[in-house]
Amino acid sequence: MSYAQTKLREEKVFKDPVHSYIHVRDLVIWDLISTREFQRLRRIRQLGTTYLVFHGAEHSRFNHSLGVYEIIRRIVDDIFKGREHWDDSERLLTLCAALLHDLGHGPFSHAFENVFSLDHEEYTRKILLGDTEVNAVLRRVAPDFPEKVAQVIEKKYANPLVVNLISSQIDADRMDYLQRDAYYTGVSYGHFDMERILRVMRPREDKIVIKESGMHAVEDYIMSRYQMYLQVYFHPISRSAEMILNHTLKRARKLFHEGYVFKQDPFPFVSFFTGEITLEAYINLDESVVLTYFKWWSQEEDEILRDLSTRFINRRLFHYVDFNPGEELQKYERLKELFTEAGIDPTYYFVHDTTADLPYDFYRPGEEKVREPIFLEMKNGKELELSRKSTIVDAITGRVQRDHKVYFPKERILALTDCKAAQEIKELLHIT
Ligand code: NI
Repeated sequence: MSYAQTKLREEKVFKDPVHSYIHVRDLVIWDLISTREFQRLRRIRQLGTTYLVFHGAEHSRFNHSLGVYEIIRRIVDDIFKGREHWDDSERLLTLCAALLHDLGHGPFSHAFENVFSLDHEEYTRKILLGDTEVNAVLRRVAPDFPEKVAQVIEKKYANPLVVNLISSQIDADRMDYLQRDAYYTGVSYGHFDMERILRVMRPREDKIVIKESGMHAVEDYIMSRYQMYLQVYFHPISRSAEMILNHTLKRARKLFHEGYVFKQDPFPFVSFFTGEITLEAYINLDESVVLTYFKWWSQEEDEILRDLSTRFINRRLFHYVDFNPGEELQKYERLKELFTEAGIDPTYYFVHDTTADLPYDFYRPGEEKVREPIFLEMKNGKELELSRKSTIVDAITGRVQRDHKVYFPKERILALTDCKAAQEIKELLHIT
């Protein structure tokens, strides 16, 4: 029997709080889970700095990746198997892509990608195709199998059904993270009836459709995503922590380039600081390393590095106010001057941040980012784009949620009692 078809003698199960159990029968899947690159995901939190706001949110990308795998396993084994339009020979590929879709995420993903101009998708590809344990497992299936897995994750694979299961507006990735993040943060939004959605998903020639009877479950899913973005993912306090993390790394990089002598050699970061990142350095860097260095940096001579890393470790975060520099550029520039006058470096201590999300959208020709809409299959067999049938979804379709904030250390400004610049800052930012 070929490696691809080999089953474990006994099924392995992982206890999971979201899906109850995660079932593994395929030897390939078991071998992938055991690789060092996949195990590394245990040391990367799914929600980055969110645990500083919702203290339960310590779950890892390992948990989430297993969850996405389990949803796909149920779709391909219980719902699609034997149905017209579904090619069962794509089963293992779909399962592998589900399990490995987040493989390239680095520590505190967004902050890291931002500071070092990285793209986790590029690193997913590098880990799949490079000299790694994951690559060795995938290559045993077939020489071109690692490339196929990469193509599915990059949405370039020829079979759109496989791609849509892993990434579309209603995919296994989103279905897992919404429920998982709701569970671990403890919030009441984010829940929806996934069982119902899975049962009404159908493979069609070039896409996946939802039977009309499942529309309300899908509405619930879209609304839960909408709520989670506003209440959890864009939470201003976790963004504050992200800003501090961001600027700590920027400060460390600047000091490194200036020849500053660190008390602890920052060797795990060196290739990131120089921009010549090796795959090995990338795989070795996880959140345990970052947090260890932040603790060391909180003992450093450099005042800014010491202050920022201490703030992150001890959760002494920046305060924020709503402010859009695009609309009030002069005021923004004036504030930067005032921060400098008050002796607070605005590069690190007066930070603008913006977020934006689109809860749901249908395809608009000519748009850069093509969004695969959700299609309902009506009783008469016709397909209808979701927002044309659902009033609730129509109300939020295409509406970008955008918000701008500036972050700064309020307590330092309040402490400057005899300072004219600080007085003006307080007035301009309405802080008391
Ligand atoms: Ni994911």
